[in-house]
Amino acid sequence: MKSFKALVVRESNGTVNYQIENQVNESMLDHGEVLIRVNYSSVNYKDMLAVQKNGGVIRNYPMIPGIDLSGVVEESTDSRYVKGQSVLVTGYTMGMSHTGGFSEYARVPSSWVVPLPKNLTLKDAMIYGTAGLTAALSINALEKNGMDPKQEQSILITGATGGVGSIALQILSKIGYKDITALVRKEKQIEVAKKLGATRVILLDDFKFDKKPLNKQTFHFILDTVGGDLISSLIPYVFYQGSVSVCGNAAGIKLDTTVLPFILRGINLLGIDSVNISHEDRMTIWGKLSEEWKITDTTLVNQITFEELSNTFDLLKEGRHLGRTIVKI
Ligand SMILES: NC(=O)c1ccc[n+]([C@@H]2O[C@H](COP(=O)([O-])OP(=O)(O)OC[C@H]3O[C@@H](n4cnc5c(N)ncnc54)[C@H](OP(=O)(O)O)[C@@H]3O)[C@@H](O)[C@H]2O)c1
Repeated sequence: MKSFKALVVRESNGTVNYQIENQVNESMLDHGEVLIRVNYSSVNYKDMLAVQKNGGVIRNYPMIPGIDLSGVVEESTDSRYVKGQSVLVTGYTMGMSHTGGFSEYARVPSSWVVPLPKNLTLKDAMIYGTAGLTAALSINALEKNGMDPKQEQSILITGATGGVGSIALQILSKIGYKDITALVRKEKQIEVAKKLGATRVILLDDFKFDKKPLNKQTFHFILDTVGGDLISSLIPYVFYQGSVSVCGNAAGIKLDTTVLPFILRGINLLGIDSVNISHEDRMTIWGKLSEEWKITDTTLVNQITFEELSNTFDLLKEGRHLGRTIVKI
């Protein structure tokens, strides 16, 4: 194979730098049974962290980041995958300790590969990416714990205009939830959240947090993407036997709560991981994303080139990024 183009993160003398390299050799790709010609990747919060010094994502340098990809099988030593087949890959250690999706080619273990669901295009798959998988896993977990569009339940989504939050909002609206509150930080996000399907929007500054261990029961379910102080403060507002899904740490990793909402109101805290879930669960969730939960036809997405990745990382880092950005490779 000829050399190809990839974004490469290198460390030297204690500094971390990244740039597009045009002459990457196949020998730089990590091991795996399936070689994929990448068509699209997507940009997640974790990808932004990957290119920062001490970002805590990349385990060894040099590394090609990119935790998501969709593309076409170029070569496979696993008979389940054949040349020309459309596939997607998200998570595992891709873009962390295994070379990832910001590259014209990627080689991955066959156990990581998901055949592209029949109702999705390669572009659709990356409109979702890890963010969409995580949003869907959060909804799935909440529904398993009683969230139901046929019941009168109030649902809160935090980080509602971010990658995970914006997809969750659109799916909940599509599948018939009628009382969806979006929590946002900036005035300009209010209209965006309404367009995504929120029936009510609360500006973080207007929410009068009262730091009591138990508070007025306000939300039956919370789909949290922010973590930290925000979700710590919201847990006391959950209704009796309600549930909270947590997937993110954008506001920090510390959870400061008491046992009271759990032992007096029987609420559930549901942890969401999209990285290492089983292949079987992945197939189930991708199936939903391609059928009854499909929102890619109406999702507004920014499509960028390799060269524009750096600007998107900056927007994510500065909290100025909205929704989903995909990369056409
Ligand atoms: N568990 C998993 O498998 C998994 C998978 C995917 C993502 N995640 C995690 O989920 C989180 C969200 O990911 P994403 O891709 O949606 O990121 P994103 O696109 O950057 O969105 C983050 C959202 O959180 C909001 N936010 C950040 N800090 C906040 C704070 N202190 N208070 C209130 N809101 C705050 C942002 O609001 P602004 O727009 O105002 O900045 C934005 O709406 C990240 O922590 C990510 O690492 C986890």
